[in-house]
Amino acid sequence: MKIKVLCNDSQRFAEIKRAAVEKDPEAEVSGGGWRVEELPAFIDGGGPDVLIIDQATADCLDTLEILIQRRPDIDVLLISTETSVDFLMRAMRANVREVLPMTAISVPLQEAIGRIRQKRNHLLGMRGDGKVLAFISCKGGSGATFIAANVAYALAAERKQRVALIDLNLQFGDAAMFVSDQIPPSNVAEVAREIHRLDASFLSSAMLEVESGFHVLASPDDPSSSPDVKREHVEAIIRLARSKYDFVVVDVARTLDAITLQALDMADLIFPVVQLTLPFVRDSKRLISVFRSLDYHQDQIHLVVNRYQKGGEISLTDIERTVGLKVFMTLPNSYQAAATSVNLGIPIIKGRRTDPLSKELIDMAHAIVPAAEEEATRGGWLSRVFS
Ligand SMILES: Nc1ncnc2c1ncn2[C@@H]1O[C@H](COP(=O)(O)OP(=O)(O)OP(=O)(O)O)[C@@H](O)[C@H]1O
Ligand SMILES: [Mg+2]
Repeated sequence: MKIKVLCNDSQRFAEIKRAAVEKDPEAEVSGGGWRVEELPAFIDGGGPDVLIIDQATADCLDTLEILIQRRPDIDVLLISTETSVDFLMRAMRANVREVLPMTAISVPLQEAIGRIRQKRNHLLGMRGDGKVLAFISCKGGSGATFIAANVAYALAAERKQRVALIDLNLQFGDAAMFVSDQIPPSNVAEVAREIHRLDASFLSSAMLEVESGFHVLASPDDPSSSPDVKREHVEAIIRLARSKYDFVVVDVARTLDAITLQALDMADLIFPVVQLTLPFVRDSKRLISVFRSLDYHQDQIHLVVNRYQKGGEISLTDIERTVGLKVFMTLPNSYQAAATSVNLGIPIIKGRRTDPLSKELIDMAHAIVPAAEEEATRGGWLSRVFS
């Protein structure tokens, strides 16, 4: 576990570090001084698994609430002299994991670290049945493929998850090109044609290995071969991929045909991607009402606003009101960096890591891991019938 200790007293830092390492000898503990305004910087660029804030006071709670919402995967522990009910309630509402006393910190700190480790091991143990994430554009060109490809890459590169990216835009798919300049060895249509051979090694040989742990099953080169792919092929491919990978990221076409619905049906989380202009908003309303009519659960649908600029004519509240869903994530407009990434076939997170868009995409990958785990614990959801 990576533990970051924010502490303005070097002796206390040494004491906290000693206690943490004694409990978890493999922990990487780093430290630094802190002020409330600097808190957001401590979760940037990956961030720790556990953030310990020494001598925390009530004025850091509002900032923490926002940070924890952005990065629910980070467990935050506060060490504080504050014991008032009001403080504890606010800390709880901010989703702080525990508030520990200032004096005799070692034992309570070690106990808290033990509980966090137990929780994390439990989540790790739930792997094996990968989570399916489906990305769909509410209107052509909204950025669904770009986001799917880069989030898939981020899950593999930043969260060390095994990730399969499957391109189900069978006519004009381009997901593989967003993350690699290599020619894919095979594609969805070729796998479908030989579906009787489908097993782990056949699937793996059909996929392009972008990096270790990140593989892409490309869409066919020839749009006329798309009718070869049937609903049951998609089901078999996703089911197998799910058993082999932690995350199966599916880029689906906007046409709500049997292929798309099969993928959406198998998705744990669905990410409709929209931009804040009227035609996009109108189509997102239509798409989300289709999801409702298909009985997709509200909690599964994670609306992403791409190329978001504050102060536009349509606000986040407008779209939330129109479609009846909270916005899960906004991603900034970053034309040059996105265009270069796509032109070179290098994930933006790899090529332009410091770009604001990369930062948000990394945050999105971090937020997806706990969201997917939560969805999995909610139990299997009804499979809808498509005919
Ligand atoms: N946040 C962003 N800022 C700037 N450019 C972006 C951003 N997101 C995506 N783009 C650009 O928009 C282009 C279109 O994106 P993409 O192909 O992902 O859209 P799509 O929703 O998948 O479209 P389609 O419905 O045609 O499949 C990409 O080539 C990319 O360069
Ligand atoms: Mg696309």
